[in-house]
Amino acid sequence: MDTQILPPNDESIKKAAELIKAGELIAFPTETVYGLGASIFNVEAIQKIFTVKGRPTDNPLIAHISSLAQVELIGKNIPPEFSILSDNFFPGPLTIVVQKQEQVPNIASAQLSTIGIRMPHHQVAWKLIEASGTPLVAPSANLSGKPSPTTAAHVLEDLSGKIPLILDGGPCDVGIESTVLDLTTSPPVILRPGHITKEQIESVLHRPVVFASVTDAQEKVKAPGMKYRHYAPNAIVHVITTLDQLAEISKTLRPNQTMMITNIHLPATYEFKVILPLTEKGLYASFRKADDAGIQDILIFTDEETKKNIGLLNRIEKAAKKI
Ligand code: TXA
Ligand code: MG
Repeated sequence: MDTQILPPNDESIKKAAELIKAGELIAFPTETVYGLGASIFNVEAIQKIFTVKGRPTDNPLIAHISSLAQVELIGKNIPPEFSILSDNFFPGPLTIVVQKQEQVPNIASAQLSTIGIRMPHHQVAWKLIEASGTPLVAPSANLSGKPSPTTAAHVLEDLSGKIPLILDGGPCDVGIESTVLDLTTSPPVILRPGHITKEQIESVLHRPVVFASVTDAQEKVKAPGMKYRHYAPNAIVHVITTLDQLAEISKTLRPNQTMMITNIHLPATYEFKVILPLTEKGLYASFRKADDAGIQDILIFTDEETKKNIGLLNRIEKAAKKI
């Protein structure tokens, strides 16, 4: 099939919604990364998501909503803290895991009895869900194992010929996937860190929340996505934190095949093929650029600011296979 890329005007959004109703998959922009959407009630369409992405079937999908009225359609036993979080962070880059309604097909939640719910902030995402008349399940619109797409071109790179339409909303503002918070446990658990921080969540809930450890995820398969290597370029990613480490590792790398990603001003003696700034918004695009340019090694030299950004650090460490 031919994959069309269209600007997200009323006409193309209407067309996309008709395709969704016909059981097709549509790639669309959100404020975090591009999503690959299907109707949450269409089992065959959801099956296609797993096939097209090469996604393991034990990795659950997030339900994307455009209004709070849709929460009751997909979740049940919604705790009071859900409203506090939705008042403060919806629409936005937060996914809240609650008990799932029986009518939501089990394939959407990878057989779990819970479901993640998120209301995206991006107008195109919002309009597409509205026009489709149903919540959409949408994983990131990349091939499984590749970095999530933050532009329509990234989606095309991975899914060309496999889906009918990509709505092109330009580069995503946030650049890393939503924070995933499990509200079915006490204390609530952050299954995936993101732009909405632990501190922001604690300050509205007025109680501590905790980060899931990777071991928890592997043993209890609580956040199945966490056990897979995600967000990774083909190039080898090295994380360094000091100039001494830079000096040491530079002896073993070829500068013309190395990409440096950093906000630190480097001594003039270092010559790398590409030097890019380290940002949440640009990280995945840098990874894809490295692969396109045949880069062998990516050096990420973190600074104090980056170390405070748990979401960004998590994606860097995953890419470096440290977690
Ligand atoms: O920002 C985002 O969340 C993007 C955009 C498109 O909205 N979506 C996204 O979806 O990143 P995906 O499928 O690539 O990642 C979903 C993550 C996975 O790690 C999955 O394991 C976790 O959320 N997840 C989803 N539902 C869950 C559930 N019921 N329990 C535990 N973890 C869940
Ligand atoms: Mg993903």
